[in-house]
Amino acid sequence: MKGVILAGGTGTRLQPITKITNKHLLPVGPYPMIYWPIKKLKEAGIQEILIITHEEYIDSFEKLLNDGGDLGVSLHYAIQPTASGISDGLAHAKDFVGKEKFVLILGDNIFEDSLRPFTQSFQKQRIGARVLVKKVDDPNRFGVAQLNEDDQSIISIIEKPKSFISNYIVTGIYMYGPEVFSYIDDLSPSDRGELEITDLNNIYIRKSILQFDQLPGWWVDAGTHESLFLANQLIHDELRERDYS
Ligand code: G1P
Repeated sequence: MKGVILAGGTGTRLQPITKITNKHLLPVGPYPMIYWPIKKLKEAGIQEILIITHEEYIDSFEKLLNDGGDLGVSLHYAIQPTASGISDGLAHAKDFVGKEKFVLILGDNIFEDSLRPFTQSFQKQRIGARVLVKKVDDPNRFGVAQLNEDDQSIISIIEKPKSFISNYIVTGIYMYGPEVFSYIDDLSPSDRGELEITDLNNIYIRKSILQFDQLPGWWVDAGTHESLFLANQLIHDELRERDYS
C-alpha cells in the first residue's frame, strides 16, 4: 500500500500565522505537524508517501523533509494549484497511486492509535473504501456519520451539519483503491466551491461499499488554535511517558 498526505488548505482558522506559513509546518510537540502522519504511515509499514501541498510552500516541505530518508520513508511531492477541496487535492495523487490501494491522511489529523490493524483489514477488503470514525463531543465542525449499529454500516455522511445528527464523525483517515479517481471525476463543486471528501465518500455509501472502523484512542484535527494546543498537550504527555525517546 502507498500513503498520501494532504497538506494544502489555507489554514484560515489558524490565522494570522498561516498568512506566512503552511499549517502543517507548525510545531506539534518537538516536530512540525507533518512529521506525525508520516510516522503513522511508516509504523503501518507504508514507505512510499506522496505529500500534496500548494506551490507556495513546496520548497519549505522539501527543505524540511527532503526525500524522507531521515524518517525512513520515501517521499514524493505534488502541487495542488488552488485550495479547491480535499477531493480536488487527492486527484493529484492519481499517477503516484497507480493500481495500488492507499491510505489518505489529512496532515492536520494527530492521533494515538497505530494504523496497522485498519490497513490490514483494508488489505483483506475485497471491494470499496474504508474510513475511520470517532465519537466526539463537538461533531458539527466535521463530516458527521449516521451509523447503522446493526450491520456496522454507514447510512450517510453530512459535512458540517447545522443541527445535531450523531456524535460519530469521519476522521481525516481514509483508505481507497485506484477506482477513487474516476469517482472524483463525477463530483461537482459544493456551495463553497470545493470538491468535498464527504461527497466522494457518499458515492461509496450509495454503492454500499464503504466500511468503517472506530478509532479507540485520542484523535485531534489540529486545524484551530484550541485543537492545535490540545494536540501539543497530548503529544507532549505521550512523549513524557516515553521519556521523549
Ligand atoms: C475535513 C473534512 C471532514 C472531516 C475532517 C477531519 O474537514 O471535510 O469531513 O471530518 O476534515 O479532520 P476540515 O478540517 O477540512 O474542515
